[in-house]
Amino acid sequence: MAKIISVHSFRGGTGKSNTTANLAALMASQGLRVAVVDTDIQSPGLHVLFGLRGEDITHSLNDHIWGKIAIREAAIPVLEGQVSGAVFLVPSSVRADDIVQILRQGYDMRMLTSAFRELTEELELDVLLIDTHPGLNEETLFSLAISSAVVIVMRPDQQDYEGTGVTVEVARSLEVPSMALLVNKAPASLDPVALAETVSSTFNCPVLAVQPHSDAMLELGSRGVFALVHPDDPMTESLRSAVRQLLAD
Ligand SMILES: Nc1ncnc2c1ncn2[C@@H]1O[C@H](COP(=O)(O)OP(=O)(O)OP(=O)(O)O)[C@@H](O)[C@H]1O
Ligand SMILES: [Mg+2]
Repeated sequence: MAKIISVHSFRGGTGKSNTTANLAALMASQGLRVAVVDTDIQSPGLHVLFGLRGEDITHSLNDHIWGKIAIREAAIPVLEGQVSGAVFLVPSSVRADDIVQILRQGYDMRMLTSAFRELTEELELDVLLIDTHPGLNEETLFSLAISSAVVIVMRPDQQDYEGTGVTVEVARSLEVPSMALLVNKAPASLDPVALAETVSSTFNCPVLAVQPHSDAMLELGSRGVFALVHPDDPMTESLRSAVRQLLAD
């Protein structure tokens, strides 16, 4: 059975997509076969981190939802030659009319349960990572319900604290087997160890990592996967530790 790990946050811009891409790259660097699915159908962007432009996406999750293609056809191999395992990206379409059509018509996300099973079997996946839209909506509830683990990304910001509490409560009520927090964009003035303790005791939940606000990450500006561009950065080491914890569960 592949592990299904979804990456959530209540508020936007916390670093979900970058976290998803980095976890995938580091898992694949250990030889694992990983798929990343962009379920942020309303505002997709995960493909950018893997060097793809919107117009490069010829087959998307949307096409599968509309019954035009098998999910496997939307899975693009990425990071080839950069990792010893494999990473496949299932992107969402960034075409305006595709996004509008999904928003107008909605879709039955229960179909994704069999799609993810199919993807896991056909690509012989070890891990399936799901990048999500911020906040709570039907898609995020669905992804929580089918996940073996959830990573909730938050900044040390009062609005994030409150919102994270909501997501944690929902994940608990859906009995997600494993849940952990990742604190991102922490200012250098905060002691990371003390911050991790505060966050874990606030939510009664383990903290995978405390990532600093990083100029190198901002400079990269989603043009690549941080862990592969900066393999020796302390932030990459802390992401490796997050991977070890996630895979140990
Ligand atoms: N630790 C960090 N330090 C500095 N900048 C960061 C850090 N993590 C992420 N960023 C930047 O924050 C922005 C948002 O990151 P990202 O797209 O990964 O967030 P997101 O949670 O997926 O956003 P959305 O909710 O819109 O999907 C990007 O510009 C990214 O480069
Ligand atoms: Mg995102």
